Amino acid sequence: MTMILYFLILFVELVILILVAVYGVTLLFSSAMGAPYVPTSKKRIDEILKEARLKKGQTFLELGSGDGRIVRNAVKQYNVSGIGIDINPTLTFIARLYAKKEKLKNIIFKTQSVFDTDLAKAHVIYLFLMPQLIVKLLPKFSQLPANTLLISHGFKLEGWDKKLYKVVKTEPFSTFFYRA
Ligand SMILES: C[S@@+](CC[C@H](N)C(=O)[O-])C[C@H]1O[C@@H](n2cnc3c(N)ncnc32)[C@H](O)[C@@H]1O
Repeated sequence: MTMILYFLILFVELVILILVAVYGVTLLFSSAMGAPYVPTSKKRIDEILKEARLKKGQTFLELGSGDGRIVRNAVKQYNVSGIGIDINPTLTFIARLYAKKEKLKNIIFKTQSVFDTDLAKAHVIYLFLMPQLIVKLLPKFSQLPANTLLISHGFKLEGWDKKLYKVVKTEPFSTFFYRA
């Protein structure tokens, strides 16, 4: 009996170790693909979404959605449709679990690169990505339908100063609001 218990504990520990290792590897993968996983502070979410002035029925797209906290809150609080895109399959899996737990409808999470994402149908796009990745997205952003709201947390969009209409200054990251 003691032996069985011993091997059971050993097995559980091994599973936990493997899960932690897989999670760690996928986090390294996120960084390698252009942005490490650093979630937006929970304290900032309401403030950012309030400033977005979302309207029922709009489509809210989060590029590099992590655990989906922004897009999930947008859907929950403002009755919009939500799309979360992340290159990291572990994070999209976690985001889906949260969305299911919160019984959210009108929300999908896709494991895919921001470069393969169709931006045209989004009314509001939220991103918290590294400047090197943002620069590569600028050609896609310049093709957005007029009036699309782009919210960049942490970093400015280079060359978009004329379209910047609001900055919410907070530490350590400010949030920049643009109209395409
Ligand atoms: C700084 S985190 C932001 C997470 C989330 N948006 C938030 O604010 O809580 C950046 C996210 O972008 C994802 N990412 C990195 N490179 C990507 C790429 N090329 N395409 C899609 N997602 C990417 C990472 O996996 C990570 O989850």
